[in-house]
Order: sequence, then structure tokens, then C-alpha cells
Amino acid sequence: MSDNATFINLFKNQLRNTPPKIVVLTGAGISAESGIKTFRDNDGLWENHRVEEVATPEAFVENPALVYRFYNARREQLQSASVKANEAHKALAKLEKAFQDNLLLVTQNVDNLHEQGGSNRVLHMHGELLSARCSRSEKTFVWRDSFDENTPCPCCGGKTLRPDIVWFGEMPLYMDDIYNALSNADIFIAIGTSGNVYPAAGFVQVAQEAGAYTIEVNLAPSSTNALFDESITGLASAEVPALVEIIINRTAGL
Ligand code: APR
Repeated sequence: MSDNATFINLFKNQLRNTPPKIVVLTGAGISAESGIKTFRDNDGLWENHRVEEVATPEAFVENPALVYRFYNARREQLQSASVKANEAHKALAKLEKAFQDNLLLVTQNVDNLHEQGGSNRVLHMHGELLSARCSRSEKTFVWRDSFDENTPCPCCGGKTLRPDIVWFGEMPLYMDDIYNALSNADIFIAIGTSGNVYPAAGFVQVAQEAGAYTIEVNLAPSSTNALFDESITGLASAEVPALVEIIINRTAGL
């Protein structure tokens, strides 16, 4: 990626003499090089299942055993030795160090690779694999092992534990915090997301209306590519570290 990229707003912010406020949205593409399959790249199947079979509240009612088994397998895969944070995750941790509260990192991913890469403040808007939720109290618990309908809930002892995942048709998490940050953003960066799933796919418009400079980093142009001011096509592990370096260098001393 060339440092001659436009980055108009970065200059504007330099004139304002204040560090830019940045919102980063990540999707499955940032974890692809860490060994976790994306949702829509191959045959339309997610780890051999149609999304409706495993990622909807209706599927959980109809075939809970399958849904538990599916997420148990994903949780186990995430914790296998071969799955590790890649250079893109690490670069975003570096951006957090440089920008602190001026950066909000929002991920649609349910893996913990941002945290493994060193990020401390990540909003998992679609939930987390290493977490279980009581469907009665909505309390969540760090959970690394497999569980199913017979696993007693730590808070009520009932058979109420479900994967702490936001399924299709359910409301994503932290939406107030996210929209608040988008409405104040100077830079919005979407990384490794196909732009097919709302509300995340609409974040670029909210940021743009707030006057943010918008950048997409993706292997191929996403469905919402035309809405971005700048599009960087390539592997996240190469393009994200390069972009982070440019942002840090351009804003040094602000
Ligand atoms: N670097 C950058 N981008 C990549 C890479 C890579 N190495 N590999 C794949 N991509 C891109 C693909 O081109 C694709 O556009 O990442 C995108 C992944 O898109 P999806 O699989 O649709 O994932 P995502 O956008 O995160 O899905 C959103 O849908 O199924 C639900 O809740 C689930 O959070 C998920 C949501």
C-alpha cells in the first residue's frame, strides 16, 4: 500500500491539532489467516452447515443438540494450537496503544484473536465463543469447555445455558456505544467484512454522515465498497499493519 493514498481527513485533523477519533470494525476476514473459516467465501456453508441450521433462535429450539455441538466444535477449534492472532490483530493492538480512548474496536467475530493479539478493549457485537449465557438472567460466564442442555447454569442451577452468540434475528450488543462512537468518528475502517449483515454493514454510512473518512480493507471489494472513500484490496495481515503505520506516523505529535 502506498503512503500516497489520499487520507484527506488525516490532514484535516492535523490542522485541527487534535488526534483523530477512530472506529474500526472487523469481520471474519481478519481471522481467516489465523485458520478460522469465513462465512461467505466458499460454498455458502459455514463449517458444513447452512447458517439457518445453527445460528438462529429457531434452530436452537428445533435442534438444540446440533447447535450446542456446533459451537462446542468452534470453541475447541479456537483453542487449538494452530489458531493464533495474526499480524493484523497485532497491528490493531498497536493502534489501541497509540490512540487509547480515541480508538473503538468493534468486531463481528466471536473469536478472541483481538485479545490474543494484545487489544484490551474490544466490543464483540455478535457475542463470544469463550462465553456462556444464562437465558433466564442474561448473565454471562467465561467458558472454555464444551457444554450442553444438561450443564447446570452457575447462577440458577437450571438448564438455561446457551452459547453467548448473537444469532440471526437477535439484537447485536453494545449498539448505543457503537453508534455514539460512529457519530463522533473522524476515521472509520472496516476490515475483512463482506458487508452483507446489518446493522454492521450500515456503519459506514453513519460514520460518513458524521464526516468521517472511511476506509475498507478487504481481500475483494465488499457489497458496500462503493460507500467507502478509500478501498485497500489485499490480505489483512499485510494491509492492516501498513495502514496502522501510516496512521500512527501521520498523526504523531498531535
Ligand atoms: N484478508 C482480508 N479480507 C479477507 C481475507 C483476508 N485474509 N480473507 C477473506 N477476506 C474477506 C472476504 O473477501 C469477505 O469479504 O473477508 C470477508 C468475510 O466476509 P464474511 O464471511 O461474510 O464475514 P463477516 O462479514 O464477518 O460476516 C458477518 O455474518 O454469519 C454472520 O454473525 C456472522 O459475524 C458474522 C456476520
